[in-house]
Amino acid sequence: MERIGRTKIVDLLKRADFGAKVNIKGWVRTRRGSKKVSFIALNDGSTINNVQVVVDLAGFDEEMLKKITTGACLSVNGILVESMGQGQNAEIQASEIEVLGVCDNTYPLQKKGHTLEFLREIAHLRPRTNTFGAIFRIRHNMAYAIHKYFHDRGFFYFHTPLITGSDAEGAGEMFQVTTLDLDNVAKDENGKVDYKEDFFGKETNLTVSGQLEGELAATALGSIYTFGPTFRAENSNTPRHLAEFWMVEPEVAFNDNNDNIELAEDFIKYCIQWALDNCLDDLKFLEEHFDKGLLERLQNVVGVEFKRATYTEGVKVLEEAVAAGHKFEFPVYWGADLASEHERYLVEVHYKRPVIMTDYPKEIKAFYMKLNEDGKTVRGMDVLFPKIGEIIGGSERETDYETLKKRVEDNNIPMSDMWWYLDTRKYGSCPHSGFGLGFERLLLFITGMSNIRDVIPFPRTPNNADF
Ligand code: 4AD
Ligand code: MG
Repeated sequence: MERIGRTKIVDLLKRADFGAKVNIKGWVRTRRGSKKVSFIALNDGSTINNVQVVVDLAGFDEEMLKKITTGACLSVNGILVESMGQGQNAEIQASEIEVLGVCDNTYPLQKKGHTLEFLREIAHLRPRTNTFGAIFRIRHNMAYAIHKYFHDRGFFYFHTPLITGSDAEGAGEMFQVTTLDLDNVAKDENGKVDYKEDFFGKETNLTVSGQLEGELAATALGSIYTFGPTFRAENSNTPRHLAEFWMVEPEVAFNDNNDNIELAEDFIKYCIQWALDNCLDDLKFLEEHFDKGLLERLQNVVGVEFKRATYTEGVKVLEEAVAAGHKFEFPVYWGADLASEHERYLVEVHYKRPVIMTDYPKEIKAFYMKLNEDGKTVRGMDVLFPKIGEIIGGSERETDYETLKKRVEDNNIPMSDMWWYLDTRKYGSCPHSGFGLGFERLLLFITGMSNIRDVIPFPRTPNNADF
């Protein structure tokens, strides 16, 4: 084959220099035609769009042509020609074809219209579908947008550890990390597991959040963010929970809860606007196939001011709804943790816009949130979204050493895990605030998909860690 530099299909489809010699490489989506001519739809993952390759069969080796089946990988040299068909400007009149990889007939993606459930069982191949190509291109774009947002505003990307000795959320939902031989665990004199024999000489786990280390960084570098995987061994088999998910956690010195709320609203709108500006082909595909109201919903959220409401106000609205006959699965009363059904009622039915809820009872929030003057509620905030419920959780942090120490003790968190965190409150403590955005929850909203397993390449959930 003649050596011609490869053009990606995304770039090729924009070209109008018809007559040029080009090379493309990609996977066969479909092949149709007659005895004389074949039309091959080729996709290389650079865009949702395929390029049509026209092959006059007479000029090619018959054995080679037989290998051009759905899923096969081809390198094609040809002439860029103006397309007569609808939709696309350019197609390729093939002059040379090399089959880089044949695809045998057990290929599970022969036909269109597989269910999302089936595609989860073949997560190693699903990026080859239009749907997952679109989702993973959007996922990349959103990761880029997040870095750009913070970098442009002088935040530093700070890397927090994945293996830790502490439980940042104090919820005890951690995966243990150990090299101990579980069939023959070292025991101390009291018959307890002897972690001195373990790899780190102490009990360790995968992190549930980078926040505590992020706070150390914010009280030194000013404005930081973390963006990495976090792990939670909560046994919630829901369409919104993963055992391994990615979280974005900005933390800013001198920000109070209001600054934090403003940052959260501005940030999430920026991300959604970025998707509208940079991922339109993929969004349109997802809208057409999965969620007819997607683009309108995205535009609405960018254009509307989020509702601010206290937890107490929210509970009142919910109690009134119950009194008027609305049925919730979980009970509503002041002090109860809100379930996703409650959050969605407030957002979708009552306020009809995203809601930033603040001032929760301290009992249902983490130990590090700043206590309000009432001694009952904390300066925390959750951002609640249509279809999702909670997408962001954050707070102003408790900065007073004694108050924080008491909160740690009240929550039965061992001081041996927290001394370094408390140190920041001894050495030049300052007001500071931050939040965590669940990256996959953002992707659920932006893609319109309804199961979180479909917005991460290889989901980890209870009883599932394949691939
Ligand atoms: O509300 P969370 O637990 O807050 C924190 O972890 C804080 N340390 C954040 C901070 O203030 N720096 O989690 C933050 C967000 C949630 O709002 C949700 O979007 C997402 O992380 N999240 C999950 N996403 C997928 N699967 C799970 N199991 C999740 N748990 C939380
Ligand atoms: Mg939360």
